[in-house]
Amino acid sequence: MSAIPAAPPRTGRSGGARTLAVTSGKGGVGKTFVTANLAAALAARGERVLVLDADLGLANLDVVLNLHPKLTLHDVFTDKATLDQAILPAPGGFSVLLAGSGMVEYSRLTPEVRDRLLSIIDQVKPRFDWVLLDTGAGISDVVLFAVSLATDVMVVATPEPTSLTDAYATIKVLATQQGRRQVGLLVNQASRLGEGRVICGQLQQVLQRFVGQQPGQAFRLDLLGEVRNDPTVRQAVLKRQLLIEQYPGSEAAQGVKALANRLLT
Ligand SMILES: Nc1ncnc2c1ncn2[C@@H]1O[C@H](COP(=O)(O)OP(=O)(O)O)[C@@H](O)[C@H]1O
Ligand SMILES: [Mg+2]
Repeated sequence: MSAIPAAPPRTGRSGGARTLAVTSGKGGVGKTFVTANLAAALAARGERVLVLDADLGLANLDVVLNLHPKLTLHDVFTDKATLDQAILPAPGGFSVLLAGSGMVEYSRLTPEVRDRLLSIIDQVKPRFDWVLLDTGAGISDVVLFAVSLATDVMVVATPEPTSLTDAYATIKVLATQQGRRQVGLLVNQASRLGEGRVICGQLQQVLQRFVGQQPGQAFRLDLLGEVRNDPTVRQAVLKRQLLIEQYPGSEAAQGVKALANRLLT
């Protein structure tokens, strides 16, 4: 199976794929888990999805998907492979462009990294319905640049106070430095249903005070979904399998599918 769809965009979106950066303030909150399973959930709905492992310094999408790529983003950056060669089929019916572990040298944002990434996004956009960018955590220039490549951004946060403080810092920077007036929020590892809404409300309130000060600059934090803290997630990660394939009925899988639904409507 080729990883690259040949057909013209099925959904007929004029600008090609919808680009969504998945980021977070704090690390280890579930960005890669959510991105991979969201990609599979969208693919199950007939969408053509590419996941770009844009966490250049700490890339581990290959580990989560149990892939051992011969060709990675590194080979594309160094002209050892074409983009088409490096885009691989992933379990779950989507495509991936993996960073692998050879990318540490790109964890600093240079003009070259900038140009390469911009050109890659331009080339893949016409060929997919969705390009998901699994980015790093925090507000370093390389993370912020990766996020800037996407039209939409989804911040992943857990209910832990440290995660929320860091999510707040990230969202504030996205609003002030990238001029974003709307950011999506996914609350991961929620301990009960409805916790996402409470957390989103609290964050929105604090943000309003700092970001929404200037007239005509209203800022909106949209709750895109919540995924429960669920032991099946760890089990799937340990088996290096997709949760929505291994435990499709689990609470966390339901949360990811609801997120895909929300993005499709
Ligand atoms: N909803 C969840 N329920 C339980 N454990 C989770 C959940 N989401 C993530 N985890 C755990 O957190 C770990 C880190 O997730 P990962 O996606 O690698 O984070 P990040 O990409 O943000 O650094 C996972 O390997 C998994 O064990
Ligand atoms: Mg990750």
